[in-house]
Amino acid sequence: MSARILVLPGSVRTGSLNALLAAEAARRLALTSASVTLLSLADYPLPLLDADLEASDGLPENAVKLAERIAAQDALLLVSPEYNASLPPLLKNAVDWVSRVTRIGGRPVQPFRRLIVGFAAASPRPGGGARSLAAWRLVFQDLGADLLTPQCTVGEAGTAFDESGRLSSERANLALDTLVETLVGQASALGRHGF
Ligand SMILES: Cc1cc2nc3c(=O)[nH]c(=O)nc-3n(C[C@H](O)[C@H](O)[C@H](O)COP(=O)(O)O)c2cc1C
Repeated sequence: MSARILVLPGSVRTGSLNALLAAEAARRLALTSASVTLLSLADYPLPLLDADLEASDGLPENAVKLAERIAAQDALLLVSPEYNASLPPLLKNAVDWVSRVTRIGGRPVQPFRRLIVGFAAASPRPGGGARSLAAWRLVFQDLGADLLTPQCTVGEAGTAFDESGRLSSERANLALDTLVETLVGQASALGRHGF
């Protein structure tokens, strides 16, 4: 069975640099033995998480659907913007909602537990979103995921892609290749193969 890998960009902005990086990562993953899905959070609109809302209305359908998609993977590649040196709220809100899903179809589930997670980021600034990834590592560690050490940050990303969405910098290409290779290797060897 080929490893199932979900690629999740943390921005739905028109012209998103992280969506571009996610698409390029998904293209490279599709060249491997892995089975790859590229998701957009635009397909899973969610209200801002508020415990009173959860208590009164229960879990939103999209939180459960997203949790179902994630729980059925061996690995996740998160491609995240950096906002004010940390996490972007759209993606954090989605992760928070999914972390509240404990049952799917009557079965107990922990969508992020033992999930292999790799991280990438793109930013128009030189830092490439590395601080966002540091913050994400704390989140996913707490959720019981298995985190990959190699990561890919693309700084000055406004000029880092050519017209067909390919990365021009040798450093970024190497970092993305290493991340993709590690992700597929780990997901194939250690993936949880369904829930
Ligand atoms: C509220 C806000 C805060 C930001 N803070 C940072 C930051 O701390 N570091 C950084 O590299 N870029 C920062 N940016 C710029 C984003 O990296 C840039 O908007 C990027 O294009 C967002 O990702 P996207 O293109 O995938 O939507 C910030 C943008 C916004 C809207």
